[in-house]
Amino acid sequence: MSAFTPLPQKNLPQNPATHPPLTPELLQTLAGKVTAAEDCLRRIARDHAPAAFASSLGAEDMALADLILKNALPIRIFTLDTGRLHPETCDLLAAVEQHYGRRFEVFYPEHTALEAFVSTHGINAFYASVAARRQCCRIRKVEPLRRALMDCKAWITGMRAQQSATRQGLAAQEFDAEHGLEKFNPLADWSEKEVWGYIRSRNIPYNPLHDRFYPSIGCAPCTRALAVGEDIRAGRWWWEDPETRECGLHSRGRKTADGRL
Ligand code: ADX
Ligand code: SF4
Repeated sequence: MSAFTPLPQKNLPQNPATHPPLTPELLQTLAGKVTAAEDCLRRIARDHAPAAFASSLGAEDMALADLILKNALPIRIFTLDTGRLHPETCDLLAAVEQHYGRRFEVFYPEHTALEAFVSTHGINAFYASVAARRQCCRIRKVEPLRRALMDCKAWITGMRAQQSATRQGLAAQEFDAEHGLEKFNPLADWSEKEVWGYIRSRNIPYNPLHDRFYPSIGCAPCTRALAVGEDIRAGRWWWEDPETRECGLHSRGRKTADGRL
């Protein structure tokens, strides 16, 4: 397996997914969803403190960060820098910190484990086998997430039910048995159009890779752009079977009794 060759970056057509027309209908549905998400975030800050928001700096997470920061909610915001992020993602982190005048916490992989892994299996071991890929995700993402969530009562993600078959039926609140915490997905019922409607109507910063047909962005060597008609997650670990394409950050927990907050 060799690294994916990205699409040429010049003269790309405008991506309709990231430029939805801001129709009155879209803005109206969005207004209702924004109110619900803000209520959810306020309740988390009030009833589940200390809470932390895990931001990958993807489109959903830019909307959520805006909702948290504009409302000055006392919620920690952190990102996991795997060491293999796109330069665009690192630049976005700097831009976002400047935009809001606030630093995000950044968690890194534990260096001893990473050095041992790379020395044994090679810098791009994730292409060799699913086991090696999962081990890389464990070292670069899952273990740093565990440290980031230490001392938290709840965490927040930007996951949406429509993102993939594995996220269908995603609830706004679930119990994360892995970390022993409540987990909130305030955008669980948002559509991609609503996410972009939020970003465009408020002119908030976002990763330019999204305009280049990367709807879902992870680590650079494990993410590619999509061709027309491909599933939103088709560019993540694209060489694997769809059922193994999970990094281990999100084991599905139970919903609350009524599936709501
Ligand atoms: S993944 O499991 O396939 O990597 P995805 O990229 O869809 O997940 O992101 C889902 C949610 O996981 C994000 O909204 C964010 O809450 C969290 N997340 C994913 N990657 C990171 C990261 N590098 N740092 C912090 N949170 C992340
Ligand atoms: Fe490693 Fe790829 Fe997982 Fe990133 S997404 S942690 S590079 S296997």
